[in-house]
Amino acid sequence: MSNKMWGGRFATGPDAIMEEINASIGFDQRLFRQDIAGSIAHATMLAETGILTQADRASILAGLNEVLAEIEGGTFTFSRALEDIHMNVESRLREKIGDAAGRLHTARSRNDQVATDFKLYVRDTIDTLIIQVTTLQLALANKAEDEAETIMPGFTHLQSAQPVTFGHHLLAYVEMLGRDASRLADARKRLNESPLGSAALAGTPYPIDRHMTAEKLGFDRPTANSLDAVSDRDFVIETVAAAAICAMHLSRFAEEMVIWSSAQFGFVRLSDKFTTGSSIMPQKRNPDAAELVRAKIGRILGALTSLIVVMKGLPLAYSKDMQEDKEVAFDALDALSLSLAAMTGMVGDMVPNRDRMRVSAAAGFSTATDIADWLVRELNIPFRDAHHITGQIVALAEQKNCGLEGLTIEDFKFIDQRIDSRIHKVLTVEASVAARQSYGGTAPANVLTQAARWKTILTGKPHDPRPLTAKKHGGHGDGGVA
Ligand code: ARG
Repeated sequence: MSNKMWGGRFATGPDAIMEEINASIGFDQRLFRQDIAGSIAHATMLAETGILTQADRASILAGLNEVLAEIEGGTFTFSRALEDIHMNVESRLREKIGDAAGRLHTARSRNDQVATDFKLYVRDTIDTLIIQVTTLQLALANKAEDEAETIMPGFTHLQSAQPVTFGHHLLAYVEMLGRDASRLADARKRLNESPLGSAALAGTPYPIDRHMTAEKLGFDRPTANSLDAVSDRDFVIETVAAAAICAMHLSRFAEEMVIWSSAQFGFVRLSDKFTTGSSIMPQKRNPDAAELVRAKIGRILGALTSLIVVMKGLPLAYSKDMQEDKEVAFDALDALSLSLAAMTGMVGDMVPNRDRMRVSAAAGFSTATDIADWLVRELNIPFRDAHHITGQIVALAEQKNCGLEGLTIEDFKFIDQRIDSRIHKVLTVEASVAARQSYGGTAPANVLTQAARWKTILTGKPHDPRPLTAKKHGGHGDGGVA
């Protein structure tokens, strides 16, 4: 009979609940490839070291390959009673080859087995994520090249600050993603030690060769401490941390896409493929994909928190708590992978409205700093004074309700006699960005150089900077260096 206080849902006995909380097969079945690869390496090593007969090895390997084919072919029946992927595979192997299957588990435990499987899985995932990050970087670098001379407002505090080039803005994300890829690669390096053969926690009396299994599985070396090997989850924590940082970058970019694609900004048009309509408002094009990418950081960061909290305070060595590492990690890494794919699609299809960006770039007296710089450079006025004079110029333009470009030479002279007509050259947004040729600055020439540098890195093939096409935006200025 079920408990009166809490037994409402207990149609089944408590042992069924035990099975439900204990089983991981519902989610760890996705480790089947890694589990079977680990078993093949282990069985091969056991035979090479004389622990297993050649005949047993042959039947184990043949059987494991059949199990693999069954799972891949969708004909395998997973059983919750068998708890996890390790026992599901082994039990099926026993059905196929009989007693020899029982010898496979010699000199290992599920504790080193799960650590090995999960490491292999995370390693494979890192490799895929790095390719995806690189693909997004390349899409951005290509766009940056196309938009090297497109002028947009640069912001601080989301207030118009100084004009920048759209290509420069896009390349900022290429830099961030470059660090993301390198963080993932770095996690992979530290991850790449094999726990297999650490057994339950203390090692094993059998004369195994852990270097051999490590090598067969593509690890750099075996782990050096069996207690650490079976109770370490740093590798997934580091990877999810790197994923969270990457997702944070994607979230920032997604937010900008949402802003840019709004009717009020109108800087870019996202393609039909990545937007949705509204069932009631026919004019709407909602940037759902960008919004979802903006949000995915939530679950990824949640996974990182889960993992660290699960691991904190765990005494050595393995505890079942550690089974809670997988679902959140799978979910987080899936989410990042999907976000990267969506972002790559959006970037490729996004169409900038260059005219709109340019008009907006000129608003808000965005070239005021250029006036101050001109006063310093041409009239040898100290920057602090130049800043003050420029403030008065801006105030005058505000009074006259025009942009800085709308001021006449008399207007300038009214503020300061020393100013001459050469000032007009620095007032355009084209001149402003072209002048910013300091290393890492926004000048179109810099953007083309940096885009080519990234394309060389990302494709492994040398790319020369594309030449400047100049004045395709119908700017008012000479577009040259002021
Ligand atoms: N399913 C388990 C996990 O994911 C495998 C290891 C179980 N080990 C044990 N001693 N019960 O952590």
